[in-house]
Amino acid sequence: MSADAGTLIAQANTHDYTILSLHSLSLNHFRNYETARMEATPAPVVLTGHNGAGKTNILEAISLLTPGRGLRRAKLSEINNCHSHANWVIAASVHGMQGEVKIGTGRDPEPGDNPDKRIVRIDGKPVRGQAGLARHFAIIWLTPQMEQLFQESASAGRKFLDRLVFSFDPDHASRVNEYDYAMRERNRLLAGNADGAWLDALEQTMAETGAAIAQARRHTVEHINHAILSSPLSFPKAHMRVSGTVEDLLEKGMAAVAAEEAFKGVLKDARRMDAGAGRTLSGIHRSEMHMIHVEKQMAAQFCSTGEQKALLLSIVLAQARAGAQWHGVVPVLLLDEVVSHLDATRRLELFEEICQIGAQTWMTGTDPGLFAGLEGKAQYFHVDGGRVISD
Ligand SMILES: Nc1ncnc2c1ncn2[C@@H]1O[C@H](COP(=O)(O)OP(=O)(O)OP(=O)(O)O)[C@@H](O)[C@H]1O
Ligand SMILES: [Mg+2]
Repeated sequence: MSADAGTLIAQANTHDYTILSLHSLSLNHFRNYETARMEATPAPVVLTGHNGAGKTNILEAISLLTPGRGLRRAKLSEINNCHSHANWVIAASVHGMQGEVKIGTGRDPEPGDNPDKRIVRIDGKPVRGQAGLARHFAIIWLTPQMEQLFQESASAGRKFLDRLVFSFDPDHASRVNEYDYAMRERNRLLAGNADGAWLDALEQTMAETGAAIAQARRHTVEHINHAILSSPLSFPKAHMRVSGTVEDLLEKGMAAVAAEEAFKGVLKDARRMDAGAGRTLSGIHRSEMHMIHVEKQMAAQFCSTGEQKALLLSIVLAQARAGAQWHGVVPVLLLDEVVSHLDATRRLELFEEICQIGAQTWMTGTDPGLFAGLEGKAQYFHVDGGRVISD
C-alpha cells in the first residue's frame, strides 16, 4: 500500500464506523486480463474506457471478494481467460471489518472434482467455503442487468434483498446455505421413504435458520427504509417490504421463537402436500420483496425505466448510509454504467452523496466527461485492452 493510501484510510476511519476499501487488486487469467494490477486509495474510483475494454470485468473481480458467484453470476470456468490455459486468480489487499487483510480467490478444480470449485485464502491461509469472506468485506453493486429485477420472478428480488442483508449480517450467507441444504435433504427424504426423526431434525434446522433469515431481512428493510426517508437526495424514494410465511408472522408482532415454532408446524403439516409437489411449498425460499415509489405510491414494476434505476440507486446509497449508522460498516459500492443514465443534476447529487457517505465507490463509464464534478475527489483509471492505466 502506498503511504498516501495509508493516510487516507486512517483519515477515513476517524469515525465510529469502518469504511471498507480495496487498496490493491491483481488479476491473473481473469476474463480479458492476462495479468493486471492496480492500486487505489479509499476515494471514489472512476474507470473509463471504450466498450469491451474490461471495465465491468474489474468490478466483477472485486465482487468475487465476497461470497457467491459475483455480479455476473457466472460459472467459474467462463471467467478463465479464453486464450490462457491457466485458472483465474484474484489477489487483493483490503481494509476490511477486522483491519488490513489479504484476500486471494480463484478457480481450482481438482481432477474429478467440481469444475466450479472456488478456493479462498485469507492472509495466505486457505479457508473452507466462501462464507468467511463476509467477515472481512462487504460490497453492494448495481449493474444495468439488475433493472430486470422488476420484470423477473420473485427470486430475483429475494436475491437482491439477501445481498443487501449480507453486507449487514455476515452470518446471513451461511444461514441461507444451511436452510437450502436442509430443504433439499427434506425434499429428497419426502420423495423416498421418509424417516420421521430425520425429517423432524431437518425441519428444526429449516425453522431455526428460516426465522433468523426472515428477521435479518426485516431488519435490513427497516434500516434501509429509514435511511431513504432521511436522505437529503431528491432522487425518487423507494419503500421496501418483504412478505412470506415467516416474515408475515413477524410482521404481525410474533416473537422470533414463536415464529420458528409456527414455521416448524407448517412444515410438518405440509409433508404430504410437499411430497406430492416434489418441493417445499412454503418457507423463506418463496418470500417476496416489494418496492414502492413513495412519492407516486406506485409499485416499482409499473414505474418508468429511469425511475426504476433511480429507485435502485436510492436503495444502494441508503444501504451504505444505514451500514455506517446501524452496523458500523460502510460497504464498498460498485456502480456499473449507472452514471450515464442520470441527468446532470442527479449525477452531481450522486457524487455529493458518495463523498458524504465516504464509501469507496467504483464507477464505470465510456466517457470521462460523465464524471465532471469529481475532479480532485476521485481517482481516475483508463482501461484499455486488458491494461489498467492510472490517469
Ligand atoms: N473469459 C474471457 N476471456 C477473454 N475475454 C473475455 C472473457 N469474458 C469476457 N471477455 C471479454 O472481455 C471484454 C471486456 O468486457 P467488459 O464487460 O469488462 O467490457 P466493458 O469495458 O465493461 O464494456 P462496456 O462499456 O461495453 O460495458 C469483452 O470484449 C469480452 O468479450
Ligand atoms: Mg461494462
